[in-house]
Amino acid sequence: MADSLALWHAEHVNFARLLDLLEEQVAEFHQGERPDYALMSDILYYMRNFADRVHHPPEDVAYARLAERDPGVQLQVNRLLQEHCVIAIAGEELLNCLKEISEDVLAPRSHLEAATATYLVYYRHHLATEERLVMPRAAQVLTGEDWAAVAAAVPAGSDPLFGDDMLERFEVLRRQIDRVAQAPGHDPA
Ligand SMILES: [Fe+2]
Ligand SMILES: [Fe+2]
Repeated sequence: MADSLALWHAEHVNFARLLDLLEEQVAEFHQGERPDYALMSDILYYMRNFADRVHHPPEDVAYARLAERDPGVQLQVNRLLQEHCVIAIAGEELLNCLKEISEDVLAPRSHLEAATATYLVYYRHHLATEERLVMPRAAQVLTGEDWAAVAAAVPAGSDPLFGDDMLERFEVLRRQIDRVAQAPGHDPA
């Protein structure tokens, strides 16, 4: 259980770092600068391909088990499962927006800003709910057998950005993450 919870939390910390980087890029707009669209695309590519496809399946198992053990959290669990779908769609929308820009389609700037803001709000709210309400309850009520089922739902393969086998396309993004981590006053929690 401790390992599964630690990994679960560590992935949330990584996602939160990427959301902060995404917000930093959008803030460039307001300062009259041009955001790094390639970096934003890499963040979204990772979130769509790793967070949505690797992080969410074991969560889905954990939530189903949790609702069985504690029917009082059923409503909360239903909302989180719906949010997994909403987050995937909001991420795809943002990725499409970035693709249009890279193909020089004259998309209004406000469209990208709104898509990014929507994504940030949904994702941060989702992470906060999982960390504050659902994970502590799961730690209390899930059994060893439940945690084994959660671990078995993790798809094979390593994390392509934070793992040992980093994908080449993530080199620049990885450097940005390290830059923020080494900045004075950075809080890693
Ligand atoms: Fe989730
Ligand atoms: Fe999560």
